[in-house]
Amino acid sequence: MSELISRKTTTALKGRPRIPGDKSISHRALMFGALSIGETMISGLLEGEDVLCTAQAMRQLGAKIEKGTDGLWRTWGVGIGNLQTPDAPLDMGNSGTSTRLLIGLVGGHPIKATFIGDASLSKRPMRRVITPLEMMGATFEATDGDKLPLAVQGPEDTLSIEYRLPVASAQVKSAILLAGLNARGTTTVIEEKPTRDHTEKMLSAFGIDVQIETLEDGASAISVTGQQDLQPGAIDVPADPSSAAFPAVAAVLHDGSEITLANIAISDRRNGLYLTLQEMGADIEFTNKRTQAGEEVADIIVRGNGPLKSIDVDPARVPSMIDEFPILAMAASCAEGTTKMTGLAELRVKESDRLLMVAEGLKACGVNLEMGEDWLTIHGTGKPPKGGATIQTALDHRIAMSFLILGSVTDEPISIDDGAPIATSFPNFVKLVNELGCDIGNHNV
Ligand code: S3P
Repeated sequence: MSELISRKTTTALKGRPRIPGDKSISHRALMFGALSIGETMISGLLEGEDVLCTAQAMRQLGAKIEKGTDGLWRTWGVGIGNLQTPDAPLDMGNSGTSTRLLIGLVGGHPIKATFIGDASLSKRPMRRVITPLEMMGATFEATDGDKLPLAVQGPEDTLSIEYRLPVASAQVKSAILLAGLNARGTTTVIEEKPTRDHTEKMLSAFGIDVQIETLEDGASAISVTGQQDLQPGAIDVPADPSSAAFPAVAAVLHDGSEITLANIAISDRRNGLYLTLQEMGADIEFTNKRTQAGEEVADIIVRGNGPLKSIDVDPARVPSMIDEFPILAMAASCAEGTTKMTGLAELRVKESDRLLMVAEGLKACGVNLEMGEDWLTIHGTGKPPKGGATIQTALDHRIAMSFLILGSVTDEPISIDDGAPIATSFPNFVKLVNELGCDIGNHNV
């Protein structure tokens, strides 16, 4: 356990930090590169622990993956249908995305693999991918029916299916599409609420014919025809809007700040936090909009211009900011008035029960709030709460970073019990926000 402490800083934050590569896009770049025959070159890859788990698993499934002395990553794949049975369990660490997507990939191939992970990942539900993959012919042996350690055996002949997602989840959508890559015929996933679409976009960039149709009820049907070859290429991973969210909120909370977050992936599937902060009165400007690796990107200028106003967050926006509720809750705790967030059931099955961890942590910092099964209401005073607590982070990187950002404005410092999980998604977080003007350090220093 590595405790960290965050102390108040009154100076405005300034700078142009280099935000690391997007985690979702990095996972997919490695997976799809490692499925194509020939060389794929990846720049801007996030070198966080979660992504490194994906790289290691793809190697165990037969691909060659290397980081060159030029800093670029290169993959050489075995081709759809040719994955090999790994000779040891695939260790997914803390990474739900690696786990669910790779269960889909393995479940569509006639091979067997066992997935293991850390204490947080071993509590997370896998039924959501098991059900559709069983329909495609895969068989499972899972701890307590749907937890890791979990073994999956894919069928000789993978069946294509049409499947309506019971829960808005890009991971489940992607798992099914990845299994569908090796199925006979066309696999269709129907999603009622739009979730991040990096899998669809990147499969298209690798030459796969992905069809997207809007159905009469407004849902999207995403189809992929199996047994096509992926074409290798080059991918330049944009920066991660979910990581950028932490310095962005830090800047919003420090009056007079101005920071520029360059090259951020900012499609309407990922920009919910930024739109919400704008509605709360934050000064956030999107400049230099362009397309990179098939993704919309922009430079985001964030300025601190006084207290935020409270808001009722539109539940339709939840999938586009699903990972940003912990940091939004920190901002809401400093805002003027009552912020209501609803439709948050999925937060309970992330790296931790994020609804509970946020509510307990904020209460310990002196915030007045109420929490329900899938909602959170935070009563702000227009000033930061008092702070002065040690927060339990339950192996959750986003809980850890959120409370460290809050500690940069509370009168009394905020500590977290364990900063190690930050390395899963944002290894240089502490250095980066300290360079902007925060004061986060080891507990005894
Ligand atoms: C992700 C999808 C989301 C998100 C996760 C990354 C992805 O999970 O929370 O951090 O890369 O597909 P769900 O699909 O469970 O919503």
